[in-house]
Amino acid sequence: MLIKTYELTADDFTQAGSISSDIRKIAKGYGMSQETIRRVAVACYEAEINMIIHSHGGQIELSIDDEWFNIAFKDVGPGIENIELAMKPGWSTADVVAQNMGFGAGLGLPNIKKNSDTFNLFSDPNGTLLQLGFKRKDTL
Ligand SMILES: Nc1ncnc2c1ncn2[C@@H]1O[C@H](COP(=O)(O)OP(=O)(O)O)[C@@H](O)[C@H]1O
Ligand SMILES: [Mg+2]
Repeated sequence: MLIKTYELTADDFTQAGSISSDIRKIAKGYGMSQETIRRVAVACYEAEINMIIHSHGGQIELSIDDEWFNIAFKDVGPGIENIELAMKPGWSTADVVAQNMGFGAGLGLPNIKKNSDTFNLFSDPNGTLLQLGFKRKDTL
């Protein structure tokens, strides 16, 4: 079930982290474990920053069902030219403005993948879609 849709404006550093912080609060309200909440927060923060510094803006959709906590990051371009390369630790096309703000280490995507339970990334020049899923309950 779709819970919430956020609008994200490109290059708006004043809002950086506010959506992922809201998502983290919602995850807490759903009684997920501390560890899962930490993974949600890390992955969503990196994905939100990527949309701010690399994309033309878009939407972030949060949906939740009995088993899964899902977040879709949808932007309107310019897309990722080479996903395999983008997934490599240290690879970054961040400009000097983003670098001076402390972004652009090239570790965001690998970190997002490491912290999520399901990870799907699709991209073309019309936009990038990143779908992340987190199991609401830790399996023993
Ligand atoms: N939403 C996006 N739109 C366009 N390019 C992106 C997006 N997310 C990531 N990228 C590309 O993938 C690269 C690697 O991303 P990431 O691992 O988060 O490192 P960083 O953000 O530090 O550059 C970015 O430098 C950028 O070229
Ligand atoms: Mg990044």
